[in-house]
Amino acid sequence: MTGKEFTEHRHVIQNGFSNSSTGSHVPRVIAVTSGKGGVGKSNIVLNLAIALGKLGKKVLIMDTNLGLSNIDILSGLCPKYSFSHLFTGDKSIEDILVDGPGNVQILPAHAGPGSLRELTADRKLFLLGLFDDWRPEFDIFLIDTAPGISGEVLYFTTAASEKMIVITPEPTSISDAATLIKILHTDWAEKHFRILVNKVANDSEGMDAFLTLSKILDQSVGFLSLDYLGSVPFDPKIPDAVRLQKPLILAYPETPASCNFLELCEKLLEASMPPQNGGIRFFWKKFLNI
Ligand SMILES: Nc1ncnc2c1ncn2[C@@H]1O[C@H](COP(=O)(O)OP(=O)(O)O)[C@@H](O)[C@H]1O
Ligand SMILES: [Mg+2]
Repeated sequence: MTGKEFTEHRHVIQNGFSNSSTGSHVPRVIAVTSGKGGVGKSNIVLNLAIALGKLGKKVLIMDTNLGLSNIDILSGLCPKYSFSHLFTGDKSIEDILVDGPGNVQILPAHAGPGSLRELTADRKLFLLGLFDDWRPEFDIFLIDTAPGISGEVLYFTTAASEKMIVITPEPTSISDAATLIKILHTDWAEKHFRILVNKVANDSEGMDAFLTLSKILDQSVGFLSLDYLGSVPFDPKIPDAVRLQKPLILAYPETPASCNFLELCEKLLEASMPPQNGGIRFFWKKFLNI
C-alpha cells in the first residue's frame, strides 16, 4: 500500500464509514463463524451458498481461513490465485475469483506455497477499501472464517454486517461460542447474532443448545439479540460428500441435511436485517491503532 493510498483510507476511517457504501447494489454480507473448530462452518457455507443460488441469488463465498483454506478442497478446486495476490497490485478481485459448483463464485484463501497466514493492520485496511469500493453484481457474500478469537477472525466477522454463529450441541462448542459472542459484544459493540446448530439428532436438540447458549449470555452480557436460525441434522452423507470433494447438496440432494439447507436459506432470505445493512463495514481507529 502506498503512503497516498494509506492516507486516503485513513481519511475514510476517520469519517466513520466509506461514502461508497451508499452505492446502489450493496450485497448482504454474512460472516459464518464459531468459537470451536470442526463444527461444520465450511460445509454450511458451501451448501448454503449453492442452496441460495438455487433460489435465484448470486452468491460469492469469501474463504478467509488464511493458510488453511477448505472451501476449494470441499469443492474439488485447485485455485491459481488467492487473497495474497491482491496485495501485490497486479491482480484485481475479479482476477482471483474462481467458478465454484452450482454457479457460486469463490474467493480463495489459499493457493500454492507462501499463502498468507495473518494480515497486518495496513493490509486489513487495504482490503476493506478494496471491497467497499467493489460493485459486483452479487446479492450475497458468505464469509467462511477460521474458528476462534484471533485478530483475523474478529476482523472478518466484524467486517460483515450480519453474523451467523455455528454451534453443535456439545457443551465445549456452546461455551466457546459464548466467549466469542461476549468478545464481539464487549469489544466491538456487536448486538445481533443468528445461531445455527449443526450435527443435531433432531430440531429440539438444536433448540435446547440455542437456549443453553442464550442462558449463558443472559447471565453475563448486556443487551444482545440472538435469533435461532435453525438446525442441520447429523448426516453421515456430509463426510461422504467431503471425501468425494463434492458439495452435499449436489452429491446427495435428497439427504436430510440437504433439505434443511434449502429451508434455512428461505429463512435467511426472509430474516430481517440488522441496522447496518449490507456492504463491508469500515472499522474504527482504535482497532487499527492509527
Ligand atoms: N451435519 C453434519 N453431519 C455429519 N458430519 C458433519 C456435519 N457437518 C459437518 N460435518 C463433518 O464435520 C467435520 C468438520 O466440518 P467443517 O465444515 O470442516 O467444519 P469447520 O469449517 O467448522 O471446521 C467434517 O469432517 C464434516 O464432514
Ligand atoms: Mg472450515
